[in-house]
Amino acid sequence: MMNARNTEQASVDGFSADWLRLREPLDLTARSQTLAQGFKFALKTRDGQPLRLIDLAAGTGANFRALAPLLQADQEWRLVDHDPLLLQAQRDEISHWAQQRGWRCVDEGDVLSIEAGNARWLVRGQQLDLARDLERIDLSWCDGLVTTAFLDLVSSAWLDRLCALLVAVPRPLLATLSVDGRRAWHPALAADGFIGEAFAAHQAGDKGFGESLGGHAAASLAEKLEAHAYRVSVQPSDWRIGAAHGEMLLTMAREAAAVAVVVQPSREASVSAWQTERSAQAARGDLSLVVGHLDLLGVPV
Ligand SMILES: C[S@@+](CC[C@H](N)C(=O)[O-])C[C@H]1O[C@@H](n2cnc3c(N)ncnc32)[C@H](O)[C@@H]1O
Repeated sequence: MMNARNTEQASVDGFSADWLRLREPLDLTARSQTLAQGFKFALKTRDGQPLRLIDLAAGTGANFRALAPLLQADQEWRLVDHDPLLLQAQRDEISHWAQQRGWRCVDEGDVLSIEAGNARWLVRGQQLDLARDLERIDLSWCDGLVTTAFLDLVSSAWLDRLCALLVAVPRPLLATLSVDGRRAWHPALAADGFIGEAFAAHQAGDKGFGESLGGHAAASLAEKLEAHAYRVSVQPSDWRIGAAHGEMLLTMAREAAAVAVVVQPSREASVSAWQTERSAQAARGDLSLVVGHLDLLGVPV
């Protein structure tokens, strides 16, 4: 039923449904509730109309699943992504999620219709390459724009394009879970430093949008939006990955090691020893990792 591309390949350079499923509970716990509430109150509803929201780089719809119950009202969503496999998995994931909660979910062809208590949510996937075709997003259709776990992939020039849209058609923006570059393994090991640096170098590579902002994404967007008369709030939304998330710890260690070997092939032996030690710690329940993230709320003033 689901897209079955493997997790480790996906978490380094692409995004499989498996990887997104693994991260979703950590994201849910990490999100700033204050900023989510701030977003809710900033949305200006049109009389009697459902709230309309656009999610950029929606993947399998985790942002919708996090926000729709919080917003409560009738809603219409457009979940935009370029990956046809993720768009397909999106329908399965959302249907499964709704059914687990006892909500009626009907696939009406190009739209999923969910009845959640008194609220009705209509969800459409939209395939679009946001690197090439961002300007095809029609902000005048929506009341608010959201994106999660995406902005660290884009470049400063792409953020300028996003800001140009938000200036032409001012809308509240909630951009959650952008990495900020902090990574702290516990207990610390001597090789953490160069392995972390290799990871940061990899993160700054081109992910299809030009040189990625990586850990600078939220700060850069905050600066740009403030220059365009948006009021911006930023709050931490760190992942705290402990023994309850053993599979995620193993995946993060495997991913960090794979990237370090690519960036510094001459240090393969130390990287391999580091990964073996991290795997043993994870198996004993002795390993934890904090991955720094930031949530950003921008509201036009
Ligand atoms: C880390 S995932 C986050 C997905 C989702 N927002 C979530 O939190 O589960 C990054 C997403 O960006 C999407 N993406 C990457 N490049 C893209 C592009 N050029 N156009 C549209 N989506 C893109 C990927 O397909 C993937 O779904």
